[in-house]
Amino acid sequence: MCGIVATIGSREAAPLLLQGLQRLEYRGYDSAGLATVTPGQLHCCKAEGKLVHLREKLEKTPVSGCCGIGHTRWATHGKPDARNAHPQLDEAGSVAVVQNGIIENHRHLRQHLEQRGVHFGSDTDTEVIPHLVAQALADLRGTVSPTDLLRLAVAQAVQQLEGAYALAVIWLDQPEELVAVRYRAPLLVGLGEGQFFCASDTPALAGVASSIVSLEDGEMARLTPLGVELFDQSGQRTQRTPHPLRGDDYTTDKRQFRHFMLKEIHEQADVAAAWVERCLALPAEDSLTTVLQDVQRVQLLACGTSRHAALVGAHLFEQLAGIPSSVHYASEFRYAPPPLLPRTLTIGVTQSGETADTLAALTIEMERHRALEPDVPLRLLGITNRSDSSLGRLVPHILDIRAGVEIGVAATKTFLGQMLAFYAIALHLASQRHGASAQVTACRQALAQLPEQLSQVLHAMDRRCADLAHGFAETRDVIYLGRGINYPIALEGALKLKEISYIHAEGYPAGEMKHGPIALLDQHVPVVSIAMPGPVFEKVLSNAQEAKARDAHLIGIGPVCADTEIFDVVLPIPPVHELVSPLLTVVPMQLLAYHVAAHRGLDVDQPRNLAKSVTVE
Ligand code: F6R
Repeated sequence: MCGIVATIGSREAAPLLLQGLQRLEYRGYDSAGLATVTPGQLHCCKAEGKLVHLREKLEKTPVSGCCGIGHTRWATHGKPDARNAHPQLDEAGSVAVVQNGIIENHRHLRQHLEQRGVHFGSDTDTEVIPHLVAQALADLRGTVSPTDLLRLAVAQAVQQLEGAYALAVIWLDQPEELVAVRYRAPLLVGLGEGQFFCASDTPALAGVASSIVSLEDGEMARLTPLGVELFDQSGQRTQRTPHPLRGDDYTTDKRQFRHFMLKEIHEQADVAAAWVERCLALPAEDSLTTVLQDVQRVQLLACGTSRHAALVGAHLFEQLAGIPSSVHYASEFRYAPPPLLPRTLTIGVTQSGETADTLAALTIEMERHRALEPDVPLRLLGITNRSDSSLGRLVPHILDIRAGVEIGVAATKTFLGQMLAFYAIALHLASQRHGASAQVTACRQALAQLPEQLSQVLHAMDRRCADLAHGFAETRDVIYLGRGINYPIALEGALKLKEISYIHAEGYPAGEMKHGPIALLDQHVPVVSIAMPGPVFEKVLSNAQEAKARDAHLIGIGPVCADTEIFDVVLPIPPVHELVSPLLTVVPMQLLAYHVAAHRGLDVDQPRNLAKSVTVE
């Protein structure tokens, strides 16, 4: 949710921290701050709003020091202002802490500290940590060697914390030391030349670190200008081989595009090209064949856009492979999981691999699967764009969608990648069960054409959606309609528009309109209707007619709807097999949302109140 960067070495920390924070800004951007330490002085600078405000402040009042910690915040406890921004300090201003995650018992700890006379300066849960560290330092001073003091004080403090967190700490009295801890929130250590780093996500380390180590839960790292030491939860030294980090895997360059989101929408033809080969070759991915064996039903756990991809997946599993499937909001599932039946495959879908609700739901399922079928390999699969994430460590089988780093907060190319992963699995399951049925063959043939068709649609639709966006200047509500496999695309179209343009939008199965939502329609409410030929095509057109009769402005997405004279505007899609059509119908949805938001002058890549990975419940 928030972004953490910390560094120590031979170079000035502040510029490195700002560069790292810039690359992590997609994780949260309502306030930012950094602290550095030099002998005798701890400097802290914080600013409300985006990183640019912190940068401006630092230009006026620079901070020095080769050891420092930085943070970009997505507020959970306390308003997004400078007071609540991180780093948070102890009362003496000698211990500084940045934290990503949530300290669940912070109220209790705060009360306890206040009873001991500590005064708090913020509303954050994080502030308990510097106070606890300061107290532990006072308790331990003189009883342990000075080189162990900070590490042991942080260990003593984190023993009292409940929740999920990653944190980094610096201390005035040891300007050549930085301590970081991971517990159920991502944290990486980066090794560069004469410079060492911690960060909550890999892009922050690209270009500055040549290799990385991902900390395990409960693990602590002690960084000095000479290197990095790792300690397990019991305080024992541990050793791990770092993985090389290829900087170009995480390049965050907009190329010729105005926003990352637009660039990422256009990258979808490449994502598809890479996937089509995999879709056809999927059974060769060994660990997958094991997990897909003997599957009788599937349950899918996800949030937001990933849940929409899961809905497409469930449709494919049922209609292509004949396997009953259910899709759950991970946040609901974790508190009311339905009974688990034998031979159920559980799939967690999360592009970031860090969504707290999805991880918690999967953890529950892991236990339940083990209890139900102790003698078979765990039927648990994760679909993600980040195989190096917490999800990658949690579940035994991962399908990496390999869509490349996605910076725009609104998910686009990762959504396409997730859907493609489902096509691959469904085709595999369908062939396993029914051999090469006509439907499977037709889907495979349609998929082979997808990269070329996507390129065409992207090219043709960009200008059209940009023109169409002018008509949305005063729009307050939009309705999206779809049926069958395109119903999740209607949901996704509405979510994309809401997220980045702040226009109220809802997606409905077209047949549901007349059961209530139709009351909303008048000439001020545009209706975007996906009308792809298939068993429900005529029904979709009738549903659109019903909207038109209420004076709604009708935008159609489909190949032949131009002939129907129902739609005021048509965004044409090449004729494709209906089951494959979501991979194309989603494009105008994304481009329309993008252009409406861009036309309104909004910050498309960093919409208000959102963050790229949601690591809190
Ligand atoms: C939509 C969006 C969110 C995420 C949701 C789940 O554009 O970005 O709705 O889809 O927070 O995130 P992941 O996929 O990382 O689990």
